Order: sequence, then C-alpha cells, then structure tokens
Amino acid sequence: MKNLTADELRETYLKFFESKGHAIISGASVIPENDPTVLFTTAGMHPLVPYLMGEMPHPAGTRLTDVQKCVRTGDIDAVGDSAHLTFFEMLGNWSLNDYFKKEAISWSFEFLTTKLGFSPDQLSVTVFAGEGKEGEDGYIPADEEAAAIWRGLGIPDSRIYRLPREDNWWGPAGTTGPCGPDTEMFIDTGRPKCSDGCRPGCPCGKYIEIWNDVFMQYNKNAEGRYEPLGRHNVDTGMGVERTVCMLSGAPTVYDTEIFAPIMAAIDELAGVKRVENGELRVEREGAATLNSADVLKARRIVADHMRTATFILCDPKGGVKPGNVGANYVLRRLIRRAVRYGRQLGIAPGFTPKLAEVIAQKYAHVYPELVANLAQCKADLEAEENRFNQTLDKGEAMFNKVAEQLKLHGQTQISGKTAFKLYDTFGFPFEMTLEMADKAGLSVDKDGFDEANRKHQELSRTTSAGAFKAGLQDNSEVVTRLHTATHLLHAALHKVLGPTANQKGSNITAERLRFDFTWPEKMTDQQIAETEKLVNEWIARGIDVTKKVTTVEDAKAEGAMALFGSKYGDQVTLYTIGDVSKEICCGPHVANTKELGSFKIQKEQSSSAGVRRIKAVIGNM
Ligand code: SER
Repeated sequence: MKNLTADELRETYLKFFESKGHAIISGASVIPENDPTVLFTTAGMHPLVPYLMGEMPHPAGTRLTDVQKCVRTGDIDAVGDSAHLTFFEMLGNWSLNDYFKKEAISWSFEFLTTKLGFSPDQLSVTVFAGEGKEGEDGYIPADEEAAAIWRGLGIPDSRIYRLPREDNWWGPAGTTGPCGPDTEMFIDTGRPKCSDGCRPGCPCGKYIEIWNDVFMQYNKNAEGRYEPLGRHNVDTGMGVERTVCMLSGAPTVYDTEIFAPIMAAIDELAGVKRVENGELRVEREGAATLNSADVLKARRIVADHMRTATFILCDPKGGVKPGNVGANYVLRRLIRRAVRYGRQLGIAPGFTPKLAEVIAQKYAHVYPELVANLAQCKADLEAEENRFNQTLDKGEAMFNKVAEQLKLHGQTQISGKTAFKLYDTFGFPFEMTLEMADKAGLSVDKDGFDEANRKHQELSRTTSAGAFKAGLQDNSEVVTRLHTATHLLHAALHKVLGPTANQKGSNITAERLRFDFTWPEKMTDQQIAETEKLVNEWIARGIDVTKKVTTVEDAKAEGAMALFGSKYGDQVTLYTIGDVSKEICCGPHVANTKELGSFKIQKEQSSSAGVRRIKAVIGNM
C-alpha cells in the first residue's frame, strides 16, 4: 500500500481519471442550490443531477472527475466511535451516458492495485442481488454483468457477494431522480470474521468499504416507481478520509494526518496527555476526572463537529447560521455538541474560533473559502458558543442547587420532574443532567423524565389552542407555530413560484419567521398575495399535522423533503401536513394548522445574490 496524504490522494485520483479522458471539474458548495430534497450536499451527484438525467449536456463533456465536500448528519449521535464522520470529501469519476460497467470496474481495479498499491487478495466486492420475479412488475435482475467483470479481473466468486437493495442500490439523492445498482469495494483488514454471517457491510470492522461504483440505469419517478432512465451513467465515490486511513494503517480516521493538527490543537487546549500505557488523561489543574474512553470520545466529537461546522459556515454560498430550523438547526446542534464535549474536556470558553482557525489552515490550499470567510465564521462560532455557555452555566447552577437539596434530605435520586424542569425551563441538555448526576453520585429517574416530556407535549397541544385566543403563549409555543407556518410557506412558494424556490435558510424568533429561498428577482405583489392566500387557506382548512418515525429511505419514497441525506436508513421524524407538505424535520410542530390563526408576509427583500428573504408573522384570528 502507498502511504498517501489526502493531498497526494486527491491529486493521484484526479490525474488518473484525467489520463482516462475525464475533465477535472470543481466540486460544488456543501449547501445545495437547486435541490429542495436535502439540506446539505450529501454526495457528488446532487449538483450533477440535470446532466445525469440528460436534461442538458455538461459543458466539460461526458467524462468528469471531481472532489466533493459532503455533509451527512443522519448519524450524528454515532460520532465519537472510530469511523463516523459528519463531514467528508468524496472523490468521484462520472460517465454521462458514456462508458459503463466494464470501464468503471476495470479502472477502479487498476487504480486500487497500481496507484494505491492494494493487493487484489485484499479486495472483496459486492454486487446487486436483484429483486422481484422475471416478467412481474418491479423486477430488476441481479447484476451478473458486474460480477463477471470482477471475475475477469481475477476476483474469485467467493469474494463477490450478492446483496439486496439496502446494501447495493444507490440513490436517488433526493426524492426522485437517477439511481441504480452499485458495486462496492471493500478492503479486508485480515481480522477474523466476527461470526459465520460476517461479510462486507458487517459493522464489526473486518471489511472497510472504500469505493462505490453506481450504475445509474433507472429513474425514480414521482410515484415512487423505478423506470429505465434510457441512459447509462456511472457515479463513483471514494471517501478521502477512510482511504487515507486504510493506506496509512492508522487505527481510525482521527489518527490520520488529516486530523493530526486538529487533534493536537484540542489536546493542547484541554491538556490531554498520553500516559505510559497509552491511555489518555486530561492533565490540568482542576480538570474533571475523565477516564480514557471519555477523553477519546470527547476529542473526536469536538474534532468532527468543528470541522463540519467550519465548512458549513465558510461555504461560499453562505446563508446557513446557527438557528432553530432546518440546516440552521443542524449547524447549531453541531456547534453545541462540540461546546458541550469541549467543556467536558475542561477546555476554556472561546475555543471554537481557535479550532476553526486550525481547520482553515489545514485546508486553505484546497478550499480557499475557508480563509476568505474565516473572520465571519469565527464571529458566528463565538456568538453561538457564548449563548450556549450562558445556558449551560445557568443549568449547572440550578443542578448544583438541586443536588445540594437532595443531599440535605438524604436522597439519592433526581426525580423525572426536576430533570425535566432543568431541560425545559433552563434549556439544560438531559445528557448533562445524567453526566453531572453520575459525578455527584446521584441517579436520575429517566422514565420519569420521558413521562414528563410526553405529558408536556400533550399539554402544550391542548392548551395552545386556548392560550392563543388569550394571547398568552410562552415563547416556545409561538416558535412552534411559526415553525409549522414555515413549512406551509415553503410549500406555498413551491406552488406559486415553482420547484426552484428552494429553502436556503430559516430563522425563527418569538416575533416572526424568516425564510430565505433561491429566487432570482423580487416577487411581484401578486405572487406575495397568492402565497399569503394559500397559507391562510391551509390554516383555515384545519389540517392535522402528523408525525411518524421512519427511515430516510422510506420518507423519501413517500415523497418527503429531506433534511439529512443518508443512505444508511437512519431513524428520522417525518412531519406531514395533509396533502400540503411532507418534510423530514426535527419538529416540534402544532397538531393542527388551525392553531396558527392567520398568516401575514411583512417583508419580501433581497438576502444575497439570487436569494430572497421573507419575513412573516402569525396572528390571532
Ligand atoms: N453516490 C455514491 C455514494 O455516495 C457514489 O458516489 O456512495
């Protein structure tokens, strides 16, 4: 294996595919421009969809190669283990109705074995097993063509695994669009199988997926059916971080040169030292006593989340700021989780801008936007970190009072009600109550907390109808109503302006909603009036808002607009407003559109080039 750095890998890859007739094109923004189905660019195909569909020729030709910045936050809670990342770079080569399986697979094999130096013996591959019955509706044959090409290259059938859709089908990236079977390449780490059923795709870590060649022969249409695309495209994706990790023999991506300066900066800020037996310790006066596994996890979370947040905040498209809805909420969650774990490591406040600077330096020569937009990014981080620290300070003080009282009375358990009050009234994350209780030698009634949470949600549903008549809602109720109004506004803009009026940002305060969307010119008075009218009609119809937990794939299959793109079948919440709107979203929302009362657009103005901004309010009827 050749121990390549990320810089060397990018260059080797692009040059190799250039030598095979590909034009090197630049990757797109991490904030998607024309795709309402995702909040962030999750794969290289998003910006190329019109060309893959054959709607227009790509100016650079039919063979393209690029590096795409991707954000996938569906697995955010899994970050901290050895493999999950919320940001990664993906190398890709593309055929726009040009070459197909034979060339794609042969070049993948050639690149892996000659340019990266993997031995063919280390490779295991998967191909699509097919589904349905021949002659019946929905039948898709097994990809024996791909299997035969692999055999021809010397991979024995025993290392060619035929797997179903959930493993070997890719796309569409959004609700509809190009998709097809894929063949995935895995490096066998040589570890023993974890069980008889251990195979590529098994999470035990024996097989590491390194590359994916997708053969886009199908289009998923609005009815959810797969129809022949009438074109044969290739979309391949190789993760930079994972490949560099495999090549260097590093135990995890966090131990590669990519993360080295970021981890070093975190360790310096936190005073993390490696002690004799390889364990990690925070060595600083007054630092919390953390065990090695806690330290390991916390520094990974800080590193991952800060890298993702820095790329989002510095994105040339701009527009995503920490907030309560959509992409803004994802960003807020990333920053706040980083702050929380930084705090756990005992890092002094004000650290997030410092880490952004280290990250920008590491990537400056590849992504100049990280330098160009660094000042604003640091300011945004500082403000969000301050806001959250204030919340945490108040919450901690409250917690300490609670703990003191309990001890005074000889009690050892924090009731669910108290834990809920800390969370609801003081915004103190429940995980922090658990952590602090653990340190204070107290237990927490978790079931009681869940129960209080559930009751509160029911209560706020039933009282909000009455409360808004009296004009007495607390802030969170107004925000919830405005949040539902935002979904209605988004749906109305799609109806009035068309599907290119896509969400670019959203921000809600107790006073108003603010919604940014792509649209080239000022809306006419008539368009504004029509949008307002539609939303008010939907409110008047009294449509129930329903919520269900499902997977990203199923939600997309139902035609939902998705917040987090991911192919891993994560659990997500899908909010449906009758036949009007369907969005994957974190909530909360009202139970029925009637609760919004009425809707009024106050302002329609420019936000930035090609982006309009609407400010709107809701009122009592
Ligand atoms: N779109 C495919 C993936 O993300 C290949 O690029 O794996």
